[in-house]
Amino acid sequence: MEKTLLQIKGTLWLKPEDPAIRKAAQIICAGGLVAFPTETVYGLGASAIDPAAVARIFSAKGRPSDNPLIVHVAAREQVYQVASSVPERALYLMERFWPGPLSLVLPRSSAVPDLVCAGLPTVAVRMPSHPVALGLIRAAGVPIAAPSANRSGRPSPTSARCVLEDLAGRIDAVLDGGTCRIGVESTVLDLTGPRAVILRPGGVTREALASALGEPVFQAAWKGGDAPPSPGMKYRHYAPRAPLILVTGPPSRRRIVLNILAEYFRRRGLKVCLLSSFLNQHGHDDLEYISRHLFRSLRRCDALKAGVILAEGIDSRGLGAAVMNRLGKAAFRVIRV
Ligand code: TXA
Ligand code: MG
Repeated sequence: MEKTLLQIKGTLWLKPEDPAIRKAAQIICAGGLVAFPTETVYGLGASAIDPAAVARIFSAKGRPSDNPLIVHVAAREQVYQVASSVPERALYLMERFWPGPLSLVLPRSSAVPDLVCAGLPTVAVRMPSHPVALGLIRAAGVPIAAPSANRSGRPSPTSARCVLEDLAGRIDAVLDGGTCRIGVESTVLDLTGPRAVILRPGGVTREALASALGEPVFQAAWKGGDAPPSPGMKYRHYAPRAPLILVTGPPSRRRIVLNILAEYFRRRGLKVCLLSSFLNQHGHDDLEYISRHLFRSLRRCDALKAGVILAEGIDSRGLGAAVMNRLGKAAFRVIRV
């Protein structure tokens, strides 16, 4: 088998079959790094209880060490390995939304190395629903710490090819499970205080959480200054190479402004990529289609060597909140019309 393994710059490209999953699990147990598919985006995994392996995640990604990682488990009971206590509300949400795109911030157990949580007293945990992710965590027998498998600041990867674009030669292996179904990351929900607070909107909507809990769910905001509610909030993220201008406002007005801007930049000889035609051209204007294709579209703008990217804002209800959060963070400038 060894002779036929495909390598890109020394990174193994593995088909997600049982022997390859076992091999990937051995790599994790030996302190290595394996990128794997989840239903949201690809994660870059290491054993969550091995500080040296976790340190390798930060250096492979070029990630600031004050930005904590999400710990992935394969069974609800495994949450007790990483959290010191699990409130009633969390148990209920785990029952309702796990496996799935919901990360819960809980009080942290002493088994979790400082580096995973960036020194915070809390840990973010989620149980992904992708069978390859679950198979890998089970085979490794340890919880797996995994940020998105991109170079820090770049759009998150939704295919093995995107992972290799950023990380070939910097990680031991990638399990290729095809493209990710949801396309934006999990919702990060803080349950350590009296109120349920979304630190990052994602695959499970605020509306779904509020209706499951029967109480309001808040969206954390940070306007600079003191420490943000979640360290991830202070970094610019998801950015393609060309500057992205996001235009928000009523649909008819934003389309007019987008056309004017496109014409303006074209006249100046810049290659313009427009992130809005994909909402209509194929007859797909549903949010699931938009979120599934968002990061891939940003990476495509890079591949096309865009000079400037113009993106049309959408309504931020439901999954639209996650899409607008990512576009806002990727944007060089936001124009409200
Ligand atoms: O869907 C996902 O969540 C993907 C897949 C791979 O599971 N993972 C992911 O990880 O998006 P990452 O590292 O790219 O984003 C984790 C976010 C960051 O914004 C981080 O600041 C926040 O979660 N976070 C992690 N632990 C936290 C904690 N204890 N308190 C507050 N925020 C936390
Ligand atoms: Mg990320």
